[in-house]
Amino acid sequence: MKGWQIRCLFFLVLYTAVENVTSLEEELADSIFGNFLDPLKDLFDQKDDSNESIAKFSLRKPSQPDDDLCYIIPGKPESLASCTFNSTSKTFLVIHGWTISGMFESWVAKLVSALYERERTANVIVVDWLSSAQNHYVVAAQKTKAVGQEIARFIDWIEETTNIPLENLHLIGYSLGAHVAGFAGSHATNKVGRITGLDPAGPDFEGEHAHRRLSPDDAHFVDVLHTFTRGSLGLSIGIQQPVGHVDIYPNGGSFQPGCNLRGALEKIANLGIFAITDAVKCEHERSVHLFIDSLLNEQEAAKAYRCGSTDMFDRGMCLSCRKSRCNTVGYDISKVRKARNVQMYTKTRASMPFRVYHYQLKIHFSSKVNRSEMEPSLTVSLYGTKDEAENLELKLKEKISTNKTHSFLLVTEKDIGDLMMLKFKWEETTSGWSASNMLRMVSSWWSGDSDDTGMEVHKIRIRVGETQQKVVFCVKDPQTQSLAQEVTFVKCKGEWRTNSKRTPKRITLENH
Ligand SMILES: *[C@@H]1O[C@H](CO)[C@@H](O)[C@H](O)[C@H]1NC(C)=O
Ligand SMILES: *[C@@H]1O[C@H](CO)[C@@H](O)[C@H](O)[C@H]1NC(C)=O
Ligand SMILES: *[C@@H]1O[C@H](CO)[C@@H](O)[C@H](O)[C@H]1NC(C)=O
Ligand SMILES: *[C@@H]1O[C@H](CO)[C@@H](O)[C@H](O)[C@H]1NC(C)=O
Repeated sequence: MKGWQIRCLFFLVLYTAVENVTSLEEELADSIFGNFLDPLKDLFDQKDDSNESIAKFSLRKPSQPDDDLCYIIPGKPESLASCTFNSTSKTFLVIHGWTISGMFESWVAKLVSALYERERTANVIVVDWLSSAQNHYVVAAQKTKAVGQEIARFIDWIEETTNIPLENLHLIGYSLGAHVAGFAGSHATNKVGRITGLDPAGPDFEGEHAHRRLSPDDAHFVDVLHTFTRGSLGLSIGIQQPVGHVDIYPNGGSFQPGCNLRGALEKIANLGIFAITDAVKCEHERSVHLFIDSLLNEQEAAKAYRCGSTDMFDRGMCLSCRKSRCNTVGYDISKVRKARNVQMYTKTRASMPFRVYHYQLKIHFSSKVNRSEMEPSLTVSLYGTKDEAENLELKLKEKISTNKTHSFLLVTEKDIGDLMMLKFKWEETTSGWSASNMLRMVSSWWSGDSDDTGMEVHKIRIRVGETQQKVVFCVKDPQTQSLAQEVTFVKCKGEWRTNSKRTPKRITLENH
């Protein structure tokens, strides 16, 4: 066998292996749904507590965000005073979701603490409906309405008793708790100010009528973060459909960086099924941590952009902020209410602070030779006034063809300041292995020009999402333009026209 044949075989094998991992991941996702919903196949253990109150309202203290020290009891105004409820401040109701353990998860105290960090005089009330939430999922899901109604009665009572403006009331519900918040909002006599749904639960709510799930009707403003809307068997742990005025899908709303469902695969050997549970929790609960991040890191607020689809967003085509097309992720979101629901996207880091910088790169690839179906590996380094970000990979959403402008999304974790210079590198890869590619490679090997693609890039147009800055970059030294090596681009001279006003569509290379 010749060298290239061996290489070809190797890549074929590698490709197959990668394919297998992907399908394993899908199987894994399927088994998660199995596990998630499995307990409901068991017999119902109905506790008949129709008379008892099913929700308790614990006003937490900034100094002890983890402890339930004082309960506000509807019908007992003295409990407001004894818990030092401040009727001129904002009031938050934190509503948990489904539970297996019957205990508060660790995020509750973190969220309480972050809310007090931002709003020092606020009343942060944790709604405890653990006894109903600790049930088979389907039963817990059915109880969300009754719990919501009880919270609605609490809201009515507190409004009547303290005269607080409901505009100051903000319900924050996670998973099933998001739908509880929805029911609370829709059953309260007057409309509450805001509901934030943190990855609202999908099973039993997806596709349901707006009255039977969280919906924009439930509050003056409803904002939603979707972090685990992985569809499988028609089910998704987080609800996929938009259910608020503004629905943000970080990282497409499916898989979150740093959670690594795939990594869970390796851990299963040691930790068994808990590894999967952990991975699921990580994705689902990421919504809570994004919200906490927005409370704590106000000055590093992440932006989300309105877009028709994840795919378009991943091509960098939606980084405009005109006509409130972009918004702030989390607590400081602008309360934009449109007739139709608004879906927005953002990318994040793997940990707090989650914010990244989004760039759209528009690159025109030209060549004398007609070629298409190229899948090169493209690398970009950005150099700004504050910092630099090197060797960032441009993800291809489609194959590169000659004389076509392609748009890419690029993100950096670092704030590089104003972009001054960039370097661009093109490498033919063997990853997109196909018969036609192979043929081309062989033929180019025969003709002896194996490395030269003949492909040229003269300009790169960039739009920065976070600053809304638009810059055109030109090849620094046109004579040495060959994509076989790294090419340096600098801001074009006298090229300050904005995109919308640019007159000559075709770029004349001789000018530079
Ligand atoms: C339960 O409710 C019924 C009627 O609604 C009432 O007669 C009864 O006293 C209640 N029981 C308790 C323990 O509150
Ligand atoms: C109640 O809240 C208001 C406004 O948020 C604040 O000015 C006031 O000091 C608070 N009262 C107490 C007792 O903390
Ligand atoms: C290049 O290829 C495309 C489609 O493959 C074709 O439509 C076009 O006419 C070709 N251009 C030249 C100059 O050969
Ligand atoms: C691409 O465009 C350039 C400039 O207009 C032209 O010279 C070249 O022939 C075109 N290449 C193909 C393959 O059509």
